[in-house]
Amino acid sequence: MAEAPIHILGIETSCDETAAGVVRRAPDGSGVILSNVVRSQIADHAPYGGVVPEIAARAHVTLLDPIVRQAMAEANFNFAHLDGIAATAGPGLLGGVIVGLTMAKAIALAHGKPLIAVNHLEGHALTPRLLGPCPFPYLLLLISGGHTQFQSVDGVGRYRRLGTTIDDALGEAFDKVAKLVGLGFPGGPQVELQARRGDARRFDFPRPLKGRKDCNLSFSGLKTAVRETVEKLGALSQQDVADVCAGFEAAVAETLSDRLDRAIAAFRDLHPDAAKPTLIVAGGVAANATLKQIFERSATEHGFQLIVPPAALCTDNGAMIAWAGAERLALGLIDDLGVAARARWPLDRVSLPVYGSGKLGAKA
Ligand code: KG4
Ligand code: ZN
Repeated sequence: MAEAPIHILGIETSCDETAAGVVRRAPDGSGVILSNVVRSQIADHAPYGGVVPEIAARAHVTLLDPIVRQAMAEANFNFAHLDGIAATAGPGLLGGVIVGLTMAKAIALAHGKPLIAVNHLEGHALTPRLLGPCPFPYLLLLISGGHTQFQSVDGVGRYRRLGTTIDDALGEAFDKVAKLVGLGFPGGPQVELQARRGDARRFDFPRPLKGRKDCNLSFSGLKTAVRETVEKLGALSQQDVADVCAGFEAAVAETLSDRLDRAIAAFRDLHPDAAKPTLIVAGGVAANATLKQIFERSATEHGFQLIVPPAALCTDNGAMIAWAGAERLALGLIDDLGVAARARWPLDRVSLPVYGSGKLGAKA
C-alpha cells in the first residue's frame, strides 16, 4: 500500500476521443480528478458513418500535445511533480494507441517517471473506485461501441470474463440500426429519441440468446432482422422509423435483462459470500434511459447496488486511464519503455477469444 498520495497523468487515444487527465489517489484508496480534458472527433468521422482509423490516428497526432498541456495546466501541475504517466496500450485502433503510448513514453523518459501501460477495459472497470468506495469484487457490464461484456472485477489486474458478445458490440448495433433508418452517427442517442414516440409492438424482432445458460450476448441476428424489415417497408415514414427504433430497443432491453440475470447468477456462484454486491454499468450505451430501467430492476430484484458512473466518466476519457494507472502504481505495477501497443488485449488472462467478438481495431 502506498504511503503518500499518487499523482498520475493519463492519456487515452484508443478510438475517436483524444483525452488526457490528471488524478490523485490518496493512501486510503480514495481518488480526486484534478483535470479531465476530452476532445471528441465525432464530427471528423460522421460523414463516413463510423470511425475511420487513419483519420483518428492523424487527429490524435495533431490534438494530443495541446490536450496534455491543457490537462496539466488545469490540474495546476508540472511533469516533475507527477508520480507516473499512464497511457492506454490497447485494445483499440492500433494507430491511435501508438500515438498516445509513444507520447507517454516520451514524457516518462524525459522526466524520469514510471510508465504504466493500461488496458483500456481496465480503465472502464476501475472507474467506480475513483468516484467513491467500491470494494472488490463487483460485477461490471461494459456496453460501448466496441465491447459488450460481463466481468467479475475481483481486484486490480484480476478479472474474470463471465460473458461477451459473440458478434457485434451493443453500441455498434445501435449505430447500424440508426444508419438503416437514416439517422446520423453516433446513432444510439437518436435511436433512443425516436423509440420514445414509437410502437414497440408493431415489429416482432428476435431476442438473441434469450434463455441460454451461459452469459454471452449476440446482436447480429437482431440487426439483420431490422435490416430485412426496413427493406420490406421501402420508403420509411417518420412513424416507421420510430416504430423500428422502439421495436429494436425493446428487443435489446428484453435480451439484456435475460443475459444480466444470468450474469448475476454466475457472479453469485463465484462470490457466494458477497452480501450486497455492486453492479456497475459502463460504456456509452449505459446512457440509455430505457435500458437503465432494466438495470435498476435486475439490481433491486437480486439485491445488488447499481452504479452507473456519470456519462462523462462512462465514455472514454483520460482520468479513467490515469486512475487505473494510479491503482496499478500503488501496487508497484509499472511497465518498461519497450512495452508494445496492442490492438487486441483481453482483460482476463484465461478467456479464450470468442470468435467474432471484439473485432480488430474495435472501439472499447
Ligand atoms: O463508450 P462510448 O462513448 O465509446 C466507445 O465505444 O468507447 O460508446 C459509444 C457508443 C456508440 O455506439 C453510441 O451510439 C452508443 O454508445 N450510445 C448509445 C446512447 N448513447 C451513446 N446507445 C444507446 N442509447 C444511448 N442513449
Ligand atoms: Zn471505452
